[in-house]
Amino acid sequence: MLQKFRMAIPNKGRLRDPAVKLLEQMGIQTHIDERTYISKTNDPDLELLLLRAFDIPLYVQYGAADLGVTGRDVIVERDAKVYELKKLDFGECQLVVATPAASRISSLDDLPPDIKIATEYPNTTARFFESRGVHPEILSLRGATEIAPSLGLADMIVDLSSSGATLHRNGLRVVGKILDSTAEMIANSVSFRVNRARIDDLLDKLNGKASGTRRIEGRE
Ligand code: PRP
Repeated sequence: MLQKFRMAIPNKGRLRDPAVKLLEQMGIQTHIDERTYISKTNDPDLELLLLRAFDIPLYVQYGAADLGVTGRDVIVERDAKVYELKKLDFGECQLVVATPAASRISSLDDLPPDIKIATEYPNTTARFFESRGVHPEILSLRGATEIAPSLGLADMIVDLSSSGATLHRNGLRVVGKILDSTAEMIANSVSFRVNRARIDDLLDKLNGKASGTRRIEGRE
């Protein structure tokens, strides 16, 4: 039996609803309920995978999914070898370094050597600081990172900021930016060649907004 073409979208979080809207734009109809991880669509050859945004780069890199929608932040964190097909117009945010507003640290140039940083992005954080000659202790968390400094767990955090409201509410201020992120459509590199016509057709349905194709190489 021929394997179906599979597209992965986030099943939770801030990218889920806009990704579901994107399906409508592409003429993909499906029925999604909370505990469904794989779903049929109106196209008998197309299956939808509902996965965690953080895991989608892995599924796409290793070919378990042909296409995926996820944030650039997690593609970089996973150092995923995938094709970046299209930057999407949602999920805009920045990955920033933030400290308590009262901290004596005012820039990334005056960090104490024994600094502790809490983050959901340990790989990106390590690469960023090590490229600046700093070797912080990185504490890997699974969310609510903004509370870590006020509880004494860490001196700083690296986390996403969009409106800035969460940082502000937790008494934190930005002292540096690591990267800009939006949602992206990514493809498995083999599938991109084998299924080029199908992928082009889906991209065409996204109102001709595709911004060209380029390979995401490993990031250092
Ligand atoms: C992200 C991020 C911040 C928040 C920032 O969380 O981790 O907590 O958004 O947004 P703001 O600047 O508009 O306040 P997300 O909702 O993605 O969930 P998470 O806690 O799972 O990271």
